[in-house]
Amino acid sequence: MTTEPILQVTNLTVQFGGVIACNDLSFEVSPGELFALIGPNGAGKTTLVNAVTGIYEPKPGASVKFCQRNGETTELLNYRPHQISRMGIARTFQNLGVFSAQTVLDNLMLGRFMHERTNILHYGLFTSVAVKKELEARKVCQAIVELLDLEDVRDELVSELPYGIQKRVELGRVLAMDPHLLMLDEPMAGMNAEEKQEMVRYVYRIMDEYGTSVFMIEHDMGIIMAIAERIMVLEFGREIATGSADEIQVNPAVIDAYLGAEN
Ligand SMILES: Nc1ncnc2c1ncn2[C@@H]1O[C@H](COP(=O)(O)OP(=O)(O)O)[C@@H](O)[C@H]1O
Ligand SMILES: [Mg+2]
Repeated sequence: MTTEPILQVTNLTVQFGGVIACNDLSFEVSPGELFALIGPNGAGKTTLVNAVTGIYEPKPGASVKFCQRNGETTELLNYRPHQISRMGIARTFQNLGVFSAQTVLDNLMLGRFMHERTNILHYGLFTSVAVKKELEARKVCQAIVELLDLEDVRDELVSELPYGIQKRVELGRVLAMDPHLLMLDEPMAGMNAEEKQEMVRYVYRIMDEYGTSVFMIEHDMGIIMAIAERIMVLEFGREIATGSADEIQVNPAVIDAYLGAEN
């Protein structure tokens, strides 16, 4: 049986002046897959996520096709970032993307309301709709609080929580947007081994409960090799290899460019 990819990127090039940050990249993410992207600093990893999510415009000739939850496949180029997130791609940022002066629950609620299509003014005019929407959002967010084990800190200010938990709140905030594809930009950066392990556990939980596919940028090779179904390796904007952990580990170009550099 053939299954349509969740994300299909073809011939994607992003150039900043003289720098070709992404050089003719093509790849696809399958339904339910954990797809990882690795590569040295400056390889073009974040740029790729920014191009897929509508922040940067690739050169003409590129295609980014995304299969929504309803099975409809859309060409994402020409859509704005907020439209793309409503279609079902949620992303986290390399820097912490939380509202630190708000509580954990409020962060999730804000994520949920960003996802809503209806103008907020509409809620004011039709109060029963507003109440219904709010109740529904609370239900969704409460389920996320439970999934991510955030019950004990639900009403605490995010700024007062340890970093590992703040990153978990960020994950919850994007999850509240009901994504079909999660794009995580170095979600474990700055974490200790225990926090990384926890993060992996929650990512698995999300994939399992919500049927979300995951595209993850990560520096920790050990973790990536252990969890990703397929790995794409970038160097200077170019794809130098894509394959399973076993294939990547023995790929001479990868050993040269990335693994070799660490030893
Ligand atoms: N907004 C931008 N303007 C100019 N150059 C950029 C911009 N964003 C990224 N770059 C350049 O593109 C290259 C890839 O950057 P980036 O995608 O952030 O790499 P990575 O995430 O792999 O570390 C780098 O040379 C970086 O300096
Ligand atoms: Mg980056």
